[in-house]
Parts: sequence; C-alpha cells; structure tokens
Amino acid sequence: MTPVLQSRLPAVGTTIFSVMSALAAEHKAVNLGQGFPDFACDPALVDHVTQAMQAGHNQYPPMPGVPQFRQAIADKMQALYGRAYRAADEITVTAGATQAIITAILAVVHPGDEVIVLEPCYDSYVPNIELAGGTAVRVALTPGTFRPDFDAIAAAISGKTRAIIINSPHNPSATVWSQQDMLHLQELLAPTNVLLISDEVYEHMVFDGAQHESVARYDGLAERAFIVSSFGKTYHVTGWKVGFVAAPAARMAEFRKVHQFNVFTVNTPVQHALTAYMGDAAPYRDLSAFYQRKRDIFRAGLTKTRLRLLPSEGSYFQCVDISQVSDLGEADFCKWLTSEIGVAAIPLSAFYGNGFDQRVVRFCFAKQDATLHAALERLQAL
Ligand SMILES: Cc1ncc(COP(=O)(O)O)c(C=O)c1O
Repeated sequence: MTPVLQSRLPAVGTTIFSVMSALAAEHKAVNLGQGFPDFACDPALVDHVTQAMQAGHNQYPPMPGVPQFRQAIADKMQALYGRAYRAADEITVTAGATQAIITAILAVVHPGDEVIVLEPCYDSYVPNIELAGGTAVRVALTPGTFRPDFDAIAAAISGKTRAIIINSPHNPSATVWSQQDMLHLQELLAPTNVLLISDEVYEHMVFDGAQHESVARYDGLAERAFIVSSFGKTYHVTGWKVGFVAAPAARMAEFRKVHQFNVFTVNTPVQHALTAYMGDAAPYRDLSAFYQRKRDIFRAGLTKTRLRLLPSEGSYFQCVDISQVSDLGEADFCKWLTSEIGVAAIPLSAFYGNGFDQRVVRFCFAKQDATLHAALERLQAL
C-alpha cells in the first residue's frame, strides 16, 4: 500500500521567488528580484573563517552558540540600543533569521492561538504559524504608504492573540518604523499578554539620517519580545545563514528548548570568524551610507522612467508603481518585464495571503553599480 501523504501546508506551492529567478536565468535578465548582493563580502571575513578552521574550531559549539560570539552580540546591542542582554541566557545564535523566527513561533504558539502579521510580510511567517497549529491574523499595512494602522492592529487583538510579528526596516516596502510608531505599539500592547517577534534583519540599513528603532530601545516592548537579526544582510553573506535571537531569560529558556531539538547548534568556524570581524564597528556602522549611495543611483535612474517611485527609507529594496507603464497585474508585469525587457522584479502581491494587487513591484538594489546601470538602461526603454 502506498502511504497517503496529507500535506501540513496544503496552500504552499512554488513561490514567485523561484519562478522569477528561473525566468530571469532563462532570459538572461538582470536579476533585481531576489534579495541578495551580487558582490563579494570583505575578503578579511573569509580569511577569518579559514583561520578559525585552521585553529581547530570544527566541532559542535555549545548549544546556544560560541560564548565569545554571544558576548560580542550582547556588547553590540548594549552599545547601539542601550539594552543589556546577558550572553549566558538571553542571546542564542541561530541558522539565520528564518530559523530564529520559526523557532520562536514553535516555542510560544499553541494550537488555536492567533498570531498577528502585518501584510505585506516576509513569506515564512504565515506557514510558520500554521506549522505550530496557530492561525495567522492578517492586518494590512496602509496601502500606498505602508504605515502601520494601529486601529486595525488594536481591532485584531483578541483573547486568543499570542503574538504579533513586526519587521522594520521592512521587506518588501522599504519603510522604517519611527519612534512614534514604536511608542504607539508599546502603548497598545501594554495592557495585553501579547508577545512580540521583531524581525530586524535590516537593522543596519536605515537612510537619510534616521536611526533604527530597535525594540531593544523600548522597555515595554523588549520585555515581551524576541528580537531577531541576521549577519547575512549585514556582512553581504546571505548564504552563510547565521543570525541570532535576543530575549529576556524566561522566554529564551523556552526558545532554547525548541532550538536544541531543531538545529541544536550553528556552524562553529563562522561564529568564531564573525566574533573576530565584529571587533571593528565600521562595516555595520557604514552600511547605511553604502546602501544609501546605491539607492540614490538607482532612484536617480528610475526618475527617467514612467515607473513611479515610492519612498525607500531602509533595507535594500525600492518599490515602484507600475500603473503608468502597463495595464498588467503585478505578477504578469514582472514576468513580462523579465522576459521582454530583461529585468527581474518581484510583485508585492506575493507578500499578501489574498494576492492583493496594488500595481506595485519590488526591486533589490544590493547590486554592483554596473548591474544597477545595466538594469536602468533597460528600464529606461520602457
Ligand atoms: C524580512 C526578512 N526576514 C528574514 C529574512 C531571512 O534572513 P536569513 O537569511 O538570515 O534567514 C529575510 C531575508 O530575505 C527577510 O527579508
């Protein structure tokens, strides 16, 4: 008898990211779709990995991560955001932010619980919630501006709400939450038992002199939060998949119960390499300026097209409104743009459960200047 498989995630199919990447390869398009750099990381970082391996750091590290690495992360959070996390029991190293988020969800969400997500959102959140037996309650960010709609969030909170997931700087809209937004959320959650998962993977990419409003800056939020970040974005090594979670000890204890039977430990030599590399603040301190320059090159070129620019306040994304260029829906437009114009982009509808189409697509500008210029030349022919 052939066993019948009942899918745990029946609604999940091939993602638009895979579809667009395959199409981009087929048509030799400039790929501004998927969010990763097309340039190399600092060679010194690679040297640190080699040295760590040669020094014999090749066996399992302690379950929560290499102690010196956790201390370096805690020191950085203290220096940047003024909050003291104990390396011993409040920081855990993860296999990227994606594992951190699913592990936090599995640690706290019980069957029947509700978790609020703000759409458009990163595509792993909802399937993660469903794998935990929870229900995702989708609240839209305000169409057009993508600002949080606190009335809608307040209306979505019920006795069943276990947690809310936020993400700033935001993928895909490139918006950044302000101090006022954070205070608003803090006030809203104060009388509730709602936990917070804060996805801060773009923490070092905030433009125009604004600062990253980490949850760590806000006592009332930090005490209920799992703060998640990733070294992949910060150091141009998305394939290394190393991130971390910071949370108060009692919550971290629950997180680690799941973590130890999920990945158990994360790549040892890379943790040692990142510890050594983090001794210098310049690479993350200067990252906003690095990406702001690329953003400005890309935006200046796009003003010569009929694509309408939306603000890009942080992250490495730029969204554009396509309505003056085409009557196609977002997904069809992206397929057409890839195959006919030779530039790949991602439709925002991919980040909504109901496929909401607002005629906006996302480009990633974490690319060499030459790549951006090649894309712009093609886009200016639109
Ligand atoms: C908002 C957001 N969260 C999480 C991740 C995943 O990070 P990691 O590669 O460290 O798992 C990404 C990657 O694109 C992202 O955009």
